[in-house]
Amino acid sequence: MTTFRLAIVGAGPAGIYAADILLKAERKFDVSVDLFEQLPAPYGLVRYGVAPDHPRIKGIINALRDVLDTGRIRLFGNVLYGRDITLDDLRHHYNAVIFATGAARDVNLDVPGIDLDGSYGAADFVSWYDGHPDYPREWPLTHREVAVIGNGNVALDVARTLAKPADDLLETEIPANVYAGLKASPVTDVHVFGRRGPAHVKFTPLELRELGELRDVDMIVHDEDFDLDPASKAAIETNKQIFVLNKVLNSWRDRTPTGASRRLHLHFWARPVEILGENGAVTGFRYERTTPDAAGGVTGTGEIREVPVQAVYRAVGYFGSPLDAIPFDERRGVIPNREGQVIDDDDELVHGVYATGWIKRGPVGLIGHTKSDAMETVKHVINDQANWWLPAAPEESAIVELLDSRGIKYTDLGGWHNLDQHEIAQGVAQGRPRVKIVPRDEMVAVSRAE
Ligand SMILES: Cc1cc2nc3c(=O)[nH]c(=O)nc-3n(C[C@H](O)[C@H](O)[C@H](O)COP(=O)(O)OP(=O)(O)OC[C@H]3O[C@@H](n4cnc5c(N)ncnc54)[C@H](O)[C@@H]3O)c2cc1C
Ligand SMILES: NC(=O)c1ccc[n+]([C@@H]2O[C@H](COP(=O)([O-])OP(=O)(O)OC[C@H]3O[C@@H](n4cnc5c(N)ncnc54)[C@H](OP(=O)(O)O)[C@@H]3O)[C@@H](O)[C@H]2O)c1
Repeated sequence: MTTFRLAIVGAGPAGIYAADILLKAERKFDVSVDLFEQLPAPYGLVRYGVAPDHPRIKGIINALRDVLDTGRIRLFGNVLYGRDITLDDLRHHYNAVIFATGAARDVNLDVPGIDLDGSYGAADFVSWYDGHPDYPREWPLTHREVAVIGNGNVALDVARTLAKPADDLLETEIPANVYAGLKASPVTDVHVFGRRGPAHVKFTPLELRELGELRDVDMIVHDEDFDLDPASKAAIETNKQIFVLNKVLNSWRDRTPTGASRRLHLHFWARPVEILGENGAVTGFRYERTTPDAAGGVTGTGEIREVPVQAVYRAVGYFGSPLDAIPFDERRGVIPNREGQVIDDDDELVHGVYATGWIKRGPVGLIGHTKSDAMETVKHVINDQANWWLPAAPEESAIVELLDSRGIKYTDLGGWHNLDQHEIAQGVAQGRPRVKIVPRDEMVAVSRAE
């Protein structure tokens, strides 16, 4: 029987689910799967995006680990596609490749003042508090008043992490320097701004409700934001999720502030206009009140308001990064594809090249959605036999020899077990689920037992 050799680039949920689905699928050929990951640890945004105080979601890692532990997938961590391996290398060693490289950076927000000191991208802050090895270890949490722009779940993660008493994060896996930074934070007011109304938020109910349960934090909403247009009212009546979200929001209208040491303000109908600054540093946030237009969007009313803040976090979406020798849609930040089959500028199929997850579809959706993505992509991989690459069928050991010959200190599945056990053991000693190792060289050294 033919053995189909597949490379997958990116060991986030999309890449791991793709491997799992292919290995379990009914097919007329044997399969061997190699998973390449730029970080020394797998799981992508589940490890480096999901908030540390969401242990139930972090627990999805257990299911992903079970897939890796079937022993049918080789993991090559600490290997960056585009630097350590190229498309040409993959063509010489595999029949096809699936790119599952996600979307890791902040989308741009084009307003004056965005480059001031104190203006941050949510993705950078998340990477800091989740202990990503490639981001600065220090974060300037020196501000009393802070703005968060956006009404998605990332904005909630950022606002909650900034407002939550640091001691309530001690039972999580946050690195020690993150606890120390949050503990020393003098923040009193976190203002979250949505450019549309309460019926247009992209939050999920569980995550929104959680804000109202934060210890020593008062929720502040404004009655004027709830004077809704007919389309918003209809959305609340007909969409269960929007109904529940608005029930939660409305419940905060009746709350009397308790004099808590921190306040979390939700502002709607507030479009960013400018980040104000003095001497190069943020001093305020200027926004325009909006009103609904006929198309479900908003239009400016011309009424400009300002709040004094010393930091602004934009949580207005993530964006994918281009990959060497692979087509890229600069506007959407994805690899152009038809149901996961990569296409070029002329809409022609690029044989042997596939995409799945956020780099295929864009940075929207939950971890579970990457499973349906992977099913669609893998279906084409299986049915496209006529379009696979035909390498000179080198032995499975050839890729290892190639990485060794380039001096790449890759980590494998056994190495990940070493690192995982090491982090958990450090956590046990402190009564915590794990203590993450952050510096890349230390992760590699523990993995490789050096
Ligand atoms: C801050 C945040 C919090 C979230 N919280 C939740 C939540 O609580 N619940 C939920 O269901 N969803 C959550 N999501 C959404 C969820 O994380 C995504 O749906 C999911 O991670 C997308 O999976 P992916 O595999 O496509 O991408 P990723 O998870 O980003 O994985 C991509 C992998 O590819 C690797 N890679 C990238 N480039 C290269 C390269 N050149 N060479 C080798 N490897 C490479 C990356 O290092 C990464 O490991 C959250 C998202 C964010 C941003
Ligand atoms: N706990 C969880 O389950 C969890 C946690 C984090 C992330 N996630 C998921 O990960 C995905 C990404 O989340 P996300 O929050 O990055 O994206 P998102 O859900 O798309 O939200 C982006 C927000 O930014 C706003 N926005 C975009 N451009 C803007 C601009 N120029 N000015 C002002 N506001 C602007 C959007 O407003 P408009 O609606 O008006 O465009 C929207 O409110 C989502 O599917 C999310 O559910 C899940």
